[in-house]
Amino acid sequence: MSEVTIIINEQPITVPAGTTILTAARDVGIEIPTLCHDPEVSRYGGCRLCVVEVAGWGSLPAACVTEVRPGMVIETESARVLEARRTILELLLANHPEDCLTCEKTGACALQDYAYRYGVRRGAFLGERQNHPVEADNPFIVRDMNKCILCGKCVRVCSEVVGRSAIDFSHRGFRARIATALDEGLQQSGCVFCGSCLEVCPVGALTGKQRRGKGRPWEMTSVTTTCPYCGVGCQLK
Ligand code: FES
Repeated sequence: MSEVTIIINEQPITVPAGTTILTAARDVGIEIPTLCHDPEVSRYGGCRLCVVEVAGWGSLPAACVTEVRPGMVIETESARVLEARRTILELLLANHPEDCLTCEKTGACALQDYAYRYGVRRGAFLGERQNHPVEADNPFIVRDMNKCILCGKCVRVCSEVVGRSAIDFSHRGFRARIATALDEGLQQSGCVFCGSCLEVCPVGALTGKQRRGKGRPWEMTSVTTTCPYCGVGCQLK
């Protein structure tokens, strides 16, 4: 396999052709923030938080979907990159409930972590906000689409890893959200309540009903148990 040599943050790196900038950077310990990237599912490039600066390129490419090219000189934390990331976080927070103190995901929320890291305290843009009813009409999963950042990780893990495709993107633009095929509850969809979507959700849009109010994620231990729901006896975490 051919190899490509690039420079990231003044550090020369040689990686196999086809490697993304994100993977090349992480291989040498350079952290680039991500919200929609998950190595277990297909590339998406939707959130744009992973943008980096490439010398000679006018735009800032998303590191998670841009493959290395010979001679690339990349900066992952330039002033332009930092400004872009702050703006992206402000845009996400402009349409996000400000209930971090009581949110089930607080302390384990990637959006919250990055907002602190990049000094973004709240959304800088005023305007209409999503106002969806919280869905909790099933035994396991609470869906709060007001907190969803449309990273699509739940959609991809459900179709590509679990093989169910119980959920997908629905509507467009400001109305875009994640929904079941007929926009019914999860129980009426093909969802098997495996919990994979909960595991990959970076924010508080999907939370486990059984865990709610029982403590913060870092206070809990994950164990394998038998699902009590339909009698098949699936093993769950
Ligand atoms: Fe790269 Fe979302 S992590 S675009």
